[in-house]
Amino acid sequence: MNRLNEKIAVVTGASRGIGKAIALRLASEGADLVVTATTLASAEKTASAVEKLGRRALPLAVNVADFDEASALMKETLAQFSRIDILVNNAGITRDNLLIRMSQEQWNEVIDVNLRGTFNCIRAATKPLMKQRSGKIVNITSVVGVMGNAGQANYCASKAGVIGLTKSVARELAPRNIQVNAIAPGFIKTDMTDDLPDDVKEGLNTTIPAARIGEAADVAAAVAFLASKDADYMTGQVLHVDGGMAM
Ligand code: NAI
Repeated sequence: MNRLNEKIAVVTGASRGIGKAIALRLASEGADLVVTATTLASAEKTASAVEKLGRRALPLAVNVADFDEASALMKETLAQFSRIDILVNNAGITRDNLLIRMSQEQWNEVIDVNLRGTFNCIRAATKPLMKQRSGKIVNITSVVGVMGNAGQANYCASKAGVIGLTKSVARELAPRNIQVNAIAPGFIKTDMTDDLPDDVKEGLNTTIPAARIGEAADVAAAVAFLASKDADYMTGQVLHVDGGMAM
């Protein structure tokens, strides 16, 4: 497929897991990539995988929680590629704990990366997107941002916040032909979920109608769709990629 030929895509947190799968999927559909991660070395690894697919890639170290770094990311993207067509806000972290034991640091860190980080990148990209009068923003939320989850009050609040942010920005930017949607993955096999204890994983498995854990590629396929012309008349939506967990 070449749905994304000549498109410039920025993917945050693309060193591994879902973000890396998204970067490679967008590249395989023809997009050139700005690949960001917390360290340059890890961004470079994904960038060279993108280049092996025959696309251009700019690796950058960006902490999305920092407003100025998010602004610099968009400036460097414009300097290198002259436009931004697709922004995928994928960077995210967990700091799980029951509320009774949750520290302010655990709360703040998760809100800072997942919610503030998404705001920072959207805010920095909005002006160029508005000038272009076209663009796609895809925010990675989570099924637990809709359902809630014991032990993840910080994470669920951040992901629910991303949904509210998505819908509000979708309304603001729709007249400029910019579509803003979210994807809510369920339980996807990555380093983030590998950290969960085995009994928690087994318990989660029984709550998935599809009776299997998802793959990063399942999420990447949905991102490619929302980033393409095929989704031009969709905005403000939350697309679940969760094997039927939330319905
Ligand atoms: P992961 O831990 O494997 O990868 C997270 C990525 O975010 C890494 O590249 C990391 O370097 C980057 N990152 C972390 N802090 C950052 C910061 N301050 N600035 C920039 N980048 C930063 O996680 P995974 O599983 O690939 O998750 C990707 C996204 O999908 C996250 O937003 C996560 O919340 C979401 N998600 C994951 C699910 C899963 O089951 N794995 C389920 C639902 C949502």
